[in-house]
Amino acid sequence: MPGEQSAGPIIREDLRGRDLVSAKDLTRDELGIVFEVAKEVESNLDGFSNVLRGRRVALLFAEPSTRTFSSFYIAARRLGGDVLPLNEPEMTSLTKGETLYDTLKMLEGYGADCIVMRHPSRGAARFAADVVSAPVINAGSGSQEHPTQAILDVYTILKKRGKVNGTSLGMLGDLRFSRTVPSLAYLVSNFDDVELHFIAPTALQVRQEVELYLHDRNVRYTKVTKQQDIPDAISRLDVLYVTRLQKERFPDPSEYERLRGSYKVDMGMLRYAKSTLGVMHPLPRVDELDTEIDRTPHAWYFDQARYGLPIRMAIFALVVGETR
Ligand code: NCD
Repeated sequence: MPGEQSAGPIIREDLRGRDLVSAKDLTRDELGIVFEVAKEVESNLDGFSNVLRGRRVALLFAEPSTRTFSSFYIAARRLGGDVLPLNEPEMTSLTKGETLYDTLKMLEGYGADCIVMRHPSRGAARFAADVVSAPVINAGSGSQEHPTQAILDVYTILKKRGKVNGTSLGMLGDLRFSRTVPSLAYLVSNFDDVELHFIAPTALQVRQEVELYLHDRNVRYTKVTKQQDIPDAISRLDVLYVTRLQKERFPDPSEYERLRGSYKVDMGMLRYAKSTLGVMHPLPRVDELDTEIDRTPHAWYFDQARYGLPIRMAIFALVVGETR
């Protein structure tokens, strides 16, 4: 019953103490467990306020964040955990030149039971997982990965479509520097008959490491680089996942300026789409996704963002939840 304390069937041992560094770390069964717990939590968001009792979660965010930071924060608090928020990098000793290693060791020394970290460097989350014994959850490692975003993205597809198998998923925008795109591609590779369509100009196409992984896992994908091929690609999709141009990751600002405004998803583009097409976006959007879509049933992105809360509550419950 809503509001009542649940007996705690959400506590399971499967993921206890585990790091979550890459979307590749999760099997389909483990993902299913996260979804089961997320559904249970979602139906009774106030019913699990003992699950993190006595647990301390550190949120170390060395890059800007709105949704990811606040949903992790609220997730930990709603489960009754203590939160140490370090989300203003300029206020931490990282700015004074302290190494990430030393900062992590301190957090561990203060008794953090779990460290959620966002960092501009690829490999930062793996490094953290190697140096501290508490579980590390990657909340974004440079352009490399963002696994918890991918989990909530797949959860969104499941909730909206009723299944993930057989999804024709288009990803459009900056596929080169986006970290949500690789993580989502890795995660959906666990499902059957998923087809991926990477829609972007050559300069923004998906990275080779992603292609190699999909190739290894026998996932079908196409790359759509020419403007004139976009309508046909859009018409095949069940889901269109849009990303913004990752301005902060362009090594050359003039390249960013050149590519700025090179794509925009609007109702004109969606006239080729199936009536059931869902449009997703990890947010924030800048100008690549027209707000006129907000008023249509195609807009899944606000629900998608909302699902971040039960998903992150489920992750905390599974990784560090109280068992007694
Ligand atoms: C994404 C990110 O940080 O990679 N945002 C998010 O976590 N929802 C996407 C982005 O910044 O474009």
